[in-house]
Amino acid sequence: MTVVKYSISDDIALIQISNPPVNAISAAVRIELLQTIETLALEKSVKAIVITAPERTFLAGADIKEFGKDIDAPILSEICDKIESLDKVVVASLHGTPLGGGLEVAMSAHYRIAAPNTKVGLPEVLLGILPGAGGTQRLPRLCGVSMALDMMLTGKHVPVREAFENGIVDEIAQDNKSIDNGIAYAKKLIKEGAKIRPTSKIDKKIKNIEEIKSVIIKFKSEALKKYKNLFSPHAIIKSVDEGLSLDFPGAIKNERRLFTECIKSTQREGLIHSFFSERAITKIPELASGKPVELKNIGIIGGGTMGTGISMAAMNAGYNVIMIEQNQGAIDKALEKINSTYERNVKLGRITSDQKQQIMKLFSATIDMKELNNRDLIIEAVFENMEVKKEVFIKLNEICSKNCILASNTSYLDVNEISTVVDNPSRVIGLHFFSPANIMKLLEVVVADKTSEDTVATAFMLAKKMKKVPVRSGVCDGFIGNRILSKYLVGTYHMVEDGASPFHVDKVLREFGCAMGVFQVIDLAGGDIGWATRKRKAPFRHKDDRYVEIADRVCENGWFGQKTSKGYYLYGEGIDFLTPNPEIEVICSSERQRSGIIPKTFSDQEILDRYIAAMVYEGTKILQEKIAVRPSDIDVVYTNGYGFPKWRGGPMKYADMIGLDKILLNIQKFSEADSRFWSPPQLLIDLVDNNKNFDSLN
Ligand code: 3HC
Ligand code: NAI
Repeated sequence: MTVVKYSISDDIALIQISNPPVNAISAAVRIELLQTIETLALEKSVKAIVITAPERTFLAGADIKEFGKDIDAPILSEICDKIESLDKVVVASLHGTPLGGGLEVAMSAHYRIAAPNTKVGLPEVLLGILPGAGGTQRLPRLCGVSMALDMMLTGKHVPVREAFENGIVDEIAQDNKSIDNGIAYAKKLIKEGAKIRPTSKIDKKIKNIEEIKSVIIKFKSEALKKYKNLFSPHAIIKSVDEGLSLDFPGAIKNERRLFTECIKSTQREGLIHSFFSERAITKIPELASGKPVELKNIGIIGGGTMGTGISMAAMNAGYNVIMIEQNQGAIDKALEKINSTYERNVKLGRITSDQKQQIMKLFSATIDMKELNNRDLIIEAVFENMEVKKEVFIKLNEICSKNCILASNTSYLDVNEISTVVDNPSRVIGLHFFSPANIMKLLEVVVADKTSEDTVATAFMLAKKMKKVPVRSGVCDGFIGNRILSKYLVGTYHMVEDGASPFHVDKVLREFGCAMGVFQVIDLAGGDIGWATRKRKAPFRHKDDRYVEIADRVCENGWFGQKTSKGYYLYGEGIDFLTPNPEIEVICSSERQRSGIIPKTFSDQEILDRYIAAMVYEGTKILQEKIAVRPSDIDVVYTNGYGFPKWRGGPMKYADMIGLDKILLNIQKFSEADSRFWSPPQLLIDLVDNNKNFDSLN
């Protein structure tokens, strides 16, 4: 298949690259682009070459499926150098998202025109690598070191106007017709007698060495704090820093060396796995035939932590929201929370006060449930209690139109059971948002036995509008995320009763890369929530299950974490972050004594092994029971909702990387002491026996 074609008209050659869907620069693109450039270099009549990639976007970067395999020649860096060294004026005509290698091709052209819809960026850092085709050297020459480093370290997409104002593009076109724009611009340049202008020779913005050194020192010191676990941000700064004291070919060689180191890193493997996993989440059976229903307005029941957050997420997506609460006091409290959140956003300059007013117009609240009669979707976020939820759904069944979708934000409860109280259970679904719901990306879409495909499709459409990351889950206690969380929480308490310090556990997990340790999470969510769940489940606990009472002792003291200023850690003015509550160790010792346990010492590795083993154990069971569609969906849940480091790919990918045989061995070893908690899941045994990994199930 030809992916690169060219035509010549008068003295202008037009190169068109076409590799749908996003014009990724695959081996075929590189081979044909190089051949085309070499051919055109010999065309005496050609004065200017226009590089375009019509269809959806200009080149959106290297084909990242190739990373980790042997990359076929030619490499993109060589092509960029070839383009820049042509003795004809080269114009890149951009539209869509020229990202990564796409922007690097554009920067090796002598001039750039961009359509109004263009956003440029070097997002390689998000994949654990650095721009490897001259990006770390050419971008600073165009826009200066500070902006270039900011772009490369955040991976952000810069809109065309900002790119123009900072010298990354030379012209903004009137419309998005990149072929016509490129040709017209090339004609203009020829007419004006524009010179060949290699970016590598532009030095205006990199001349002031003293100033640049101080910029680099600032970025280096910030990077030490911001990206302490990551490899590629430091490599990016290094490439810019070292490149400035080398000649251009030397700087490109150095960039290549650092790029290759990044490519070999497990961080690259984890982050690219995360990239593709997040794109696989919509590949579910219901979306193949389900048709989303248009939602004009939403009803939210409950104005507590979740109800207010979900309301804001909906309003931010442009939906009109009516909230139902039990009394005026609760309405006032909810309104105050919503208002103050937007007010803070105004103060931080995230929105204007005018925008705040417009958003607030979308909100109203009442105690009268009948007001929900014209709504297209209701999201219930009342107390986590089956009877209370059923009562709400019985009323909704009476009040709402027959087509209205009825969703529950329950964290653990059985959505099938909730759906039994309505006449048409096909419109009942779980929409499990995460706190704070206006910020957190993850949304578990819980599909009950009778939920219709259209209801599922509508939930995914809602998620897209809200800019959430939706993951399909079947019904079980806690769905994907909280079910795994329950398992490793119990496992962690076993460890603590056996002798590990909660603060040691948290430290190990933070060092592993988790956003927080488990006890920090408990303090943040509120220890009372887990306590209520444990009480609910107590009647169903098997008599032989090991039950550690440390958490109950903590709660009996009223220490629920941040909300009570005391939990596993202490909170309040003047108290340092992560100050342990000294009474926790006392509780742990007395509980160990009460249970007749002689405490043992846990190494960092043992703590980590047990944490990972518990996650993978429950993740495997979730796959066995078909609660999750694929292992990578579990990874997406954990990297987007539970602070598991994205650069480790997620728990299932991490398990693949360290080897399932090792995980199984650990589980078998742990099961010798507690076979009820650790009996090895059959699917894990089968995978190991067949020399397969979780990725084989993706
Ligand atoms: N390589 C391979 N496949 C890619 C790809 C890439 N760089 N970018 C996107 N795709 C695939 C996606 O996996 C998806 O495939 P699917 O339909 O089978 O699931 C399809 O293209 C469409 O992608 P999206 O669903 O993400 O489409 P959107 O329209 O939402 O977003 C985009 C488009 C903004 C271009 C987004 O896909 C994106 O950010 N892509 C990655 C861009 C990137 O990181 N570029 C740098 C690559 S590294 C590099 O260039 C190294 C160089 O320095 C040498
Ligand atoms: P919350 O206690 O902060 O708020 C619940 C609100 O519901 C209260 O304001 C209460 O007045 C209101 N309410 C109760 N019955 C009502 C009724 N019949 N009609 C109208 N309003 C009623 O609880 P939170 O934390 O917001 O949790 C709500 C739901 O969301 C629960 O099911 C919980 O499991 C789930 N959830 C909670 C998360 C969290 O981090 N807090 C995360 C994800 C889900």
